[in-house]
Amino acid sequence: MSDRILWKEGKVKRQSLSSILVHWSVALSTFVLIFSGFGQLPMYKRFGIVNLPGLAWAGDYPLTLKMHYLAAIVLTLAVFYHLTEIVLTKDFDLFPKKGDLREAVKILLAMVGIGKEPPSDKYLAEQRLSYAFIGSNLFILILTGMLKVYKNLPGITVNNALVLWATQLHNLATVLLVLGVLGHLAAFIAKPNRKLLPALFTGKVDLAYVQKRHSLWFKRLERQASSSQDSRHIG
Ligand code: HEM
Ligand code: HEM
Repeated sequence: MSDRILWKEGKVKRQSLSSILVHWSVALSTFVLIFSGFGQLPMYKRFGIVNLPGLAWAGDYPLTLKMHYLAAIVLTLAVFYHLTEIVLTKDFDLFPKKGDLREAVKILLAMVGIGKEPPSDKYLAEQRLSYAFIGSNLFILILTGMLKVYKNLPGITVNNALVLWATQLHNLATVLLVLGVLGHLAAFIAKPNRKLLPALFTGKVDLAYVQKRHSLWFKRLERQASSSQDSRHIG
């Protein structure tokens, strides 16, 4: 893991280039999948979206289907890469922990001035929950999407009930994902959370912010730095 304290810069290295690329390929492909998925319903002609300037193409069903397939490839590859990286690095920082729900409520209450915010590790409890929520919906969308692609192949017939189930699940996960993404974006309306934004552009965040809010992670980084220094001295 490349996380470390950059004392001279007054920053903490928080995200590797690899994580930044995964986040943006997932985010971009998800936006395209949501837009092109709604195009399959098809709702852009019905709701007059095609009459908006520059959006006539939104009613072109074969085009939005192609977009859906292309973005599905990007999303599936990014998720596969991300899961492989987790297995290889054993970095489970974003996975939910016991008591996260209660901790998330405490953090939210502290943000509106009720009580004290508990110290956080690298991620806030709500970030771990948001990861699990968004991640599981994406996972369902990929699995059911694959079945829908298979069903669309020429000469293939799949059990009708199975296709119906896959479609219902694909649609339900779409609705939940849209809510999850809206919640994810709304989180940045809160000023303290905005300090995390540079992490996904430059990879770095403010040192003072980490010391104050992610104090458990900060202590972990300090311990890691001193133990690697010790091993250098011994070596
Ligand atoms: C469909 C679009 C997106 C998806 C699926 C997505 C997904 C995620 C997930 C699963 C996480 C980890 C859990 C969390 O921190 O909540 C995350 C983190 C984050 N995302 Fe997104 N995201 C999307 C769009 C965006 C956009 C547009 C922005 C910028 C405005 C953004 C900024 C961030 C930031 C700042 C973090 C925290 C990084 C850190 O803690 O170091 N995301 N995103
Ligand atoms: C963020 C992820 C995704 C979202 C929000 C999404 C959304 C949608 C929506 C709303 C529809 C139209 C309703 C329906 O036919 O069920 C749809 C259709 C479809 N999706 Fe997705 N989808 C996603 C990911 C995927 C993935 C990863 C695949 C493939 C692996 C996929 C394959 C398909 C297929 C084949 C169709 C049916 C197209 C047709 O024959 O009309 N989707 N999707």
